[in-house]
Amino acid sequence: MVAIALCAFEQVPEGGALGVQAMLHGRSTALVAVRRGAQVWVYHNRCPHFSIPLDYQPGTFSTYQGQLLMCAHHAAMFRFADGHCIDGPCAGAYLDSVAVCERDGQLWLAEVQDGPAGGPSCQEKHHDA
Ligand code: FES
Repeated sequence: MVAIALCAFEQVPEGGALGVQAMLHGRSTALVAVRRGAQVWVYHNRCPHFSIPLDYQPGTFSTYQGQLLMCAHHAAMFRFADGHCIDGPCAGAYLDSVAVCERDGQLWLAEVQDGPAGGPSCQEKHHDA
């Protein structure tokens, strides 16, 4: 398994969200990273309600108390820790999670099979939903 760099850990705001673009399986893919303390979770930036981005303008996300990520369109509320929608029109659905790990201040995607060589193994420390 090949890991590729996503962003610096500190770029993800405490209690907030950061939109990032990454090559996954040869396709440029919009992702969103959310952080609480030392934990970061990464999801596809795609609301399960209408399969559209969660941000109301590119890179601008709404979060609540470092716990919830809100879709800008119809206010679905997703838990940081597992992407579960706890309120809104798609309650019960989940965001699509992406496995990441943190090493040396950098977040690495761990699920990329066909990315460029380089980066650490993500098997020891794994932040996952
Ligand atoms: S598109 Fe996200 S709640 Fe409707």
